[in-house]
Amino acid sequence: MGVDILTEFEFFAGGIMPKKPTIKTALPGPRAKKLIKLDKAFVSPSYTRVYPLVVDQAEGLWVHDVDGNTFLDFTAGIAVNATGHCHPHVVKAIQRQAEHLLHMSGTDFYYTPQIQLAEKMASIVPGNGPKRVYFGNSGAEAVEAAFKLARWHTKRELNIAFFGAFHGRTMGALSLTASKTVQKKHYNPLVPGITHIPYAYCYRCAYNLCYPDCDLFCVKWIEDTLFRTTVPPEEVAAIFIEPIQGEGGYIVPPPGFHKAMYRIAKKYGILYVADEVQSGMGRTGKMFAIEHFKAKADILAVAKGIASGMPLGAMVAPAKIMNWEAGSHASTFGGNPLSCQAAMATIELLEKSLMKNATVQGKRLMKGLHRLQKTYECMGDVRGKGLMVGVEFVKDRETKEPATKWRPAIIRKAFEKGLLILGCGENSIRFCPALTVSAKEIDLGLSIFEEAVKEVAG
Ligand SMILES: Cc1ncc(COP(=O)(O)O)c(C=O)c1O
Repeated sequence: MGVDILTEFEFFAGGIMPKKPTIKTALPGPRAKKLIKLDKAFVSPSYTRVYPLVVDQAEGLWVHDVDGNTFLDFTAGIAVNATGHCHPHVVKAIQRQAEHLLHMSGTDFYYTPQIQLAEKMASIVPGNGPKRVYFGNSGAEAVEAAFKLARWHTKRELNIAFFGAFHGRTMGALSLTASKTVQKKHYNPLVPGITHIPYAYCYRCAYNLCYPDCDLFCVKWIEDTLFRTTVPPEEVAAIFIEPIQGEGGYIVPPPGFHKAMYRIAKKYGILYVADEVQSGMGRTGKMFAIEHFKAKADILAVAKGIASGMPLGAMVAPAKIMNWEAGSHASTFGGNPLSCQAAMATIELLEKSLMKNATVQGKRLMKGLHRLQKTYECMGDVRGKGLMVGVEFVKDRETKEPATKWRPAIIRKAFEKGLLILGCGENSIRFCPALTVSAKEIDLGLSIFEEAVKEVAG
């Protein structure tokens, strides 16, 4: 299949190509106001909208709202639209499949796109030997499947996860999540037997140590303290970890961390489960973030960017681990033919040029943010890999007191100026634009971000 990699504005569908954000109305505009009122009446109030954006149409990095305002999107629908909004190669793949077969349920029947995508996923996930792929519809389902497989395979009951982790909101995945208490309040009791421990968050080390002098104390602590006092390692099924923590603050652990963790896991027959839901599928410039650390994982959970916006989750494991029996886990919609075709088109684009673009533009973004950090004291830490980049805001560089109020104000200000960004952690902002982002768009995003920072906290 021939792939045309369309960049920047080339695949704009509406005719007029916006080169900069255009805000024509007060925000929200009149149409947006009406729709938000309806939404408030009928839609679950549990959603977390931080600004009143009502999207009408989008292409590439550009989002148009229902009032004709245009925004530069550095959220990619929360790290989902890997190939940009409505990439024509992905749209065509979905359209072709829609005319052919919409659904048959991969749980009970066979169909080509699911089998082909499984073969492709098995080939792109690191590790030798035969692999198997389980398909669900979301990140939480991919994690949930990994959780169940780890129990099924090891016949062990305990698990380890990390403070700051976000693994999803279904009861199993939520039990592993330790991001914000609002996500867990009133849902207890959750799945028992999970111990949360500190992540390698070097900017705010839980042990008050500094890398590399710490000699990865946070890893050693697991063996020296946790396994000697409260958690018998031979009862632990799996360690669930985000190779780069996402929702928790875009936190990149230091070199050697994952390798050391994996070594401990192997020593005690524990499965190392990498939740690549946010960090995977090319976002960091490599297909999976764990590859940056030259480390291994036994099971990988993937979703978000995998199908450029179509619902799909996948859990990939060596065949010798994914040895559960028929009926032990399944999902009616998982591996839907449309989502599978979208995923194959997405992977084609990632391999052809977009992972490389994520590296190049990610470096440009980091360089720009580091430049801003020299001027704006409030930008305490700038970190990331590829196009998974975060800025942590502090009131004071010395004390590192979190600037929790500035963060939402900066996000709101950026929105009013036509840049879409989102928060993560308590006091950080994430930059996760589509992997199609151009140098011009990076520079534009940086300049709007700077204006917002200057006005709020400069
Ligand atoms: C690392 C990680 N795991 C799991 C999830 C849950 O994914 P979903 O919202 O598709 O269920 C998310 C969502 O943000 C995530 O970032």
